[in-house]
Amino acid sequence: MTTFIVANWKMNPLTRKEAEELFSFFKKTTDKRGKVIFCPPFPYLHLGENLNLGAQNCFPERKGSFTGEVSPYMLKDLGCDYVIIGHSERRSVLGEDFFFVKRKVETSINAGLTPILCVGEEKREGTDASGEIKEQIRSALERVSFKEIIIAYEPVFAIGTGSACPIEVAAERRFLIEDILSQMKIEKDSVPILYGGSVNAENAKGYLLEGGFQGLLVGGASLEKEEFTKIIESVF
Ligand code: 13P
Repeated sequence: MTTFIVANWKMNPLTRKEAEELFSFFKKTTDKRGKVIFCPPFPYLHLGENLNLGAQNCFPERKGSFTGEVSPYMLKDLGCDYVIIGHSERRSVLGEDFFFVKRKVETSINAGLTPILCVGEEKREGTDASGEIKEQIRSALERVSFKEIIIAYEPVFAIGTGSACPIEVAAERRFLIEDILSQMKIEKDSVPILYGGSVNAENAKGYLLEGGFQGLLVGGASLEKEEFTKIIESVF
């Protein structure tokens, strides 16, 4: 199975010049090293030509009167093959609900994009993590037919905190996700499961080797040239 490293730049960097610098650096270092997918903000997508590109969001309609929104069909036309959907920042800050996430999954599949569906529990302790994750996956994928989909397990407590999820806990969640997929009669081997949340050059490889993940979704560290290169080198 392919190993994926997805760079989620979120709303960074602040200027086109910085984005150009990052892309020109990574174009030299990542081109032959497996599936590294860059998800910059929309205005910088065109600068990533010749790299594997993903978007951080899309609107669940083909075209029309949706001021300020971006169609997955436009993203495909621009050279994207992937789109991040259901990120916890969008669920909490932008108020995206289960149904909206599902519509995005469906529309992006119809547009020929591979969704990277983010799931993960809110709190480290005292919550029904398996219930939360089950609801996120079921609501997004039930009765959806797809050729390719990627799931990213991103526990909210580990995002942007510098405090990554212990590998053994993450591995349990991976088993849980596989179990949910099998209950839904989805062939688990056909769905790569990535880990995301405070990934860095030191912990990256562990999630693959010990945690059994098929890749990583990297936020902050993907904006740091040396650190992200080390992550890529440690994995491929
Ligand atoms: P950090 O790697 O900065 O914790 O972000 C993770 C994330 O949200 C990637 O989508």
